[in-house]
Amino acid sequence: MMNYENILTEINEGIGTITINRPKQLNALNKRTIEELHDAFEQFDKADKVRVIIVTGSGEKAFVAGADIKEFMNFDEQQGRDLAREGQALLFDFVQNLNTPVIAAINGFALGGGLELALASHIRIASENAKMGLPEVSLGVIPGYGGTQRLAQMIGKGRAMEMVLTADMKDAATALDYGLVTEVVPLDKLMETADNKAKKLMRNSPMAQSLAIKSINAGYYQEGFKAEINLFGQAFTTEDFKEGTQAFVERRKPQFTGK
Ligand code: CAA
Repeated sequence: MMNYENILTEINEGIGTITINRPKQLNALNKRTIEELHDAFEQFDKADKVRVIIVTGSGEKAFVAGADIKEFMNFDEQQGRDLAREGQALLFDFVQNLNTPVIAAINGFALGGGLELALASHIRIASENAKMGLPEVSLGVIPGYGGTQRLAQMIGKGRAMEMVLTADMKDAATALDYGLVTEVVPLDKLMETADNKAKKLMRNSPMAQSLAIKSINAGYYQEGFKAEINLFGQAFTTEDFKEGTQAFVERRKPQFTGK
């Protein structure tokens, strides 16, 4: 088992909890964190004593504020494409296809890659303060961890288009109304609610649950995910991408030229 720097793991009464723990960076997903998450999900999925996995973020502010912008801002097209492809394989597709049910306990901002991780999970519960969105186009890039596909699958194409093109964040009540999450509770009740949901899942057959996960997933085709990887890479060739990410680190509004 690898040594974790950016996540915490715990097993308690059949529930494996993974907490993403870079609160100063709002739990942004850098390469190392994605590798650690892959390892933790894999270990928990293999462990007989883990029946349900809960993933959450540390602190009271963020679940995950996205992929780590500072890590990818100087990438070229190939590196951009690889970032999306490897991330999808290691984490997002991996989680979606696990045998063990995964509950995302969304405790604050779930943006970009953070919302994409929640979307790849099997069940989503949010705290009242949670804010969800895919703000990538405000950075001159597009969602690259399956968001263009899974958001549209989950809430419908029209609402997904609106969310992706405006880059707006939705509050928890709106997310509930959209069917983006199935439950909203006060922050101090979030983990208890997720635990209770996990206990409920544990009453049913793990074998049948893993077959049900595979069967539901089988209805969603893969072509769109491949297109997303290529289009994500294409964004990295643009001036808008340089400007959008630079503006983020300089804490100013970007001046997009469409080039
Ligand atoms: N990547 C890297 N660092 C991030 C980050 C991210 N996605 N989100 C937040 N941080 C960092 C900030 O840079 C800041 O670091 P410093 O203190 O070193 O400056 C720290 O976390 C705290 O953040 P803020 O000071 O910005 O906190 P705030 O309360 O003012 O704003 C926020 C909160 C609105 C969530 C804002 O942080 C934000 O807009 N974050 C970026 C959200 C985003 O665009 N996510 C999409 C990323 S792209 C992606 O995910 C691509 C993909 O699909 C593969």
